[in-house]
Amino acid sequence: MKKHQTLVPLFILAVQLTSAVDFIFNTFDSSGVSLSGNATIESQILTLTNDATFSIGRAFYTSKIPTKQPNTTVVLPFSTSFIFAMAPYRNRLAGHGVVFVFSPHDGIEGSSSAQNLGLFNFTNDGSPNNHVLGVEFDCFRNQEFNDIDDNHVGIDVNSLTSVAAHEAGYWPDDGGASSFEKLELNNGRIYQVWIDYADSILNVTMSPVGMKRPKQPLLNVPLNLSDVFEDEMFVGFTASTGDMIQSHKILSWSFSNTNFSLSEGLITDGLPSFELPKTPIHRTKGFITALIVGISVFALACSVVAFFSVVRNRRTRKEKDEMEDWELEYWPHRISLQEIESGTKNFADQNVIGVGGNGKVYGGVLRGGSQIAVKVISRENGEGTRAFLSEISSLGRLKHRYLVGFRGWCKKDKGHLILVYDYMENGSLDKRVFECDENMILSFKDRIRILKQVASALLYLHEGWEAKVLHRDIKASNVLLDKEMNAKLGDFGLARMHDHDRTSGTTRLVGTVGYLAPEIVRDGRASTKTDVFGYGVLILEVVCGRRPVEAGEEGLVEWVLDASRRGELVTAVDRRLKRDGGETVDEEGVERVLRLGLLCAHFDPKVRPSMRRVVEIFEGGNEEAQQESLFVGDHDQGFSRGLGFTNPTFDEIAEGLSSSMAISCSGILVEGR
Ligand SMILES: *[C@@H]1O[C@H](CO)[C@@H](O)[C@H](O)[C@H]1NC(C)=O
Ligand SMILES: *[C@@H]1O[C@H](CO)[C@@H](O)[C@H](O)[C@H]1NC(C)=O
Ligand SMILES: *[C@@H]1O[C@H](CO)[C@@H](O)[C@H](O)[C@H]1NC(C)=O
Ligand SMILES: *[C@@H]1O[C@H](CO)[C@@H](O)[C@H](O)[C@H]1NC(C)=O
Ligand SMILES: *[C@@H]1O[C@H](CO)[C@@H](O)[C@H](O)[C@H]1NC(C)=O
Ligand SMILES: *[C@@H]1O[C@H](CO)[C@@H](O)[C@H](O)[C@H]1NC(C)=O
Repeated sequence: MKKHQTLVPLFILAVQLTSAVDFIFNTFDSSGVSLSGNATIESQILTLTNDATFSIGRAFYTSKIPTKQPNTTVVLPFSTSFIFAMAPYRNRLAGHGVVFVFSPHDGIEGSSSAQNLGLFNFTNDGSPNNHVLGVEFDCFRNQEFNDIDDNHVGIDVNSLTSVAAHEAGYWPDDGGASSFEKLELNNGRIYQVWIDYADSILNVTMSPVGMKRPKQPLLNVPLNLSDVFEDEMFVGFTASTGDMIQSHKILSWSFSNTNFSLSEGLITDGLPSFELPKTPIHRTKGFITALIVGISVFALACSVVAFFSVVRNRRTRKEKDEMEDWELEYWPHRISLQEIESGTKNFADQNVIGVGGNGKVYGGVLRGGSQIAVKVISRENGEGTRAFLSEISSLGRLKHRYLVGFRGWCKKDKGHLILVYDYMENGSLDKRVFECDENMILSFKDRIRILKQVASALLYLHEGWEAKVLHRDIKASNVLLDKEMNAKLGDFGLARMHDHDRTSGTTRLVGTVGYLAPEIVRDGRASTKTDVFGYGVLILEVVCGRRPVEAGEEGLVEWVLDASRRGELVTAVDRRLKRDGGETVDEEGVERVLRLGLLCAHFDPKVRPSMRRVVEIFEGGNEEAQQESLFVGDHDQGFSRGLGFTNPTFDEIAEGLSSSMAISCSGILVEGR
């Protein structure tokens, strides 16, 4: 720390031009920047977030800066550079990211944490009234904002859905176009970033600290900022954490709208690193496991190669040119591209019915006249292929009344894969529960029916097939509604196959913020119990008519829990259901189902019921059966014993449930949002 002292804490070259702003911070103190939220300055380093969950930290240059030539709409050029680190904490998954930002106001108003990066909130995201430009360094893949991966740099104009994005990294000066070097954002290493704007072009470049600035920018985007910027703007940084935490640090920063070489004044040597110390690799359990796994994978790979070379030799030459090895396995579902093209009017824009995490969805008609939904997945990166394979391998062979029907697939050009599903006339469940027309809103009865149907689909995935299938992304927008308003669980893009009785060892985090169980956030392990957690959150949101994480508010689980503690659980029900002589809801039913939701979303996976038990609770018409089903089984017995009940009633257990949650508030209140 001592090495990099303040060279020029702040110097302003405002001589000829009143609009000129130039400053350079090689260290930070409280006089140069104004801090808000949980931002602090630690050891002269600007620390936007620490290990607090669901936290926002913002810091801006103390005064607004002019961004346009006086009395015109012409945007001034600018050049900025900064050195940053995302420092992970041991045994925690890291998130969510840091953004360089121009904003009309300072403070944290209008922003929320987790995936919103402290940049926008749920209501104002996408509004042209924001007048915000951000360059995000994002280490969580958010499907709702079409994030390309979990390690990217994106340009955000008034919205978290980036106008342009690229995997983080750089092209070395001596390499060709194929020599891209990936940089992992959240590993504690320090990186330098350069952002330059001139002649309506925005360039973003990054590299490891100490390297000469790469000539080719990572992002080079035409952008007219004259309607985005107000005449004067605050400039600075924002970062946020959610369930996943890391410390977002800015070590130094220069900004200028006159001198594009000012960034050369940043000191790049003698800086600290925030990488976690590693235990010697050969001693770790992981190494031994990896060794064993490696050997078995190699053996398996050899036999697979041998198998496919036999198969391949049997095939005709023509097929060989058109197909890849893995396609063989999925051959039966193939539909011809011509049929899909004519069915969707050649993928016409007016046929687009939705945009999902993986790509666009088109409506269309097959030759026989049946309506279909066609999902086009871009295959530019390997990600697309993997998502495709997993989607095919699970959905293609699974059939259930309450799962979206999968019809087939094909390839388009080199870069695209196409999946064909049954068309769902009534769209997705979220459109009927959250902000929608009164006449679109679902009645309480319908909501319960749909929840039951989703439960039975999920039980089928967990137990109804020779391999256990985890859904991993249960949420209202993944529940679709057919003509008769029956639920169909969809989007298996994230599902992976697991043989029964084998725990999954993956550490790659998939899912959606707000539906992730605490243990999956802690160690990335998905299980049937993490699906049950997502289902519990689904119950709560569908009954309460609230999204799981609404900007500026406590999490939904906590909110319902609060109502339960006050003994006013029934008040949590969606208010629109009771208004204007609408259906009067069965209060006992509301309480019962909310308690079930809380039980499923319990922070302790051992307490959560299995999907089988959830279905039994829904179906067991009489009280007796419902109590039985709640308490039979090791986990629940342990749970009720722990609460001192020998033969508890439903109400007792529910009461016990909320008090046990209150006792373990450090678990659920912090982790369980
Ligand atoms: C700051 O951190 C605390 C926890 O230490 C958290 O409760 C609070 O919401 C955070 N504030 C902001 C604005 O993020
Ligand atoms: C810009 O307009 C203001 C009044 O609207 C005027 O006082 C000022 O002189 C103008 N500046 C320039 C550089 O024309
Ligand atoms: C989002 O921020 C805007 C201000 O930009 C505010 O009016 C609105 O109430 C906020 N919404 C939520 C849900 O906090
Ligand atoms: C952006 O990058 C391009 C390509 O390297 C370069 O020609 C252009 O001058 C750069 N613009 C700015 C404002 O740095
Ligand atoms: C940018 O947009 C503004 C207003 O929309 C327009 O007046 C101006 O000509 C545009 N600038 C460029 C360089 O296209
Ligand atoms: C621009 O900044 C560089 C680096 O700090 C400095 O050496 C140079 O003198 C500055 N140029 C002008 C014109 O101020």
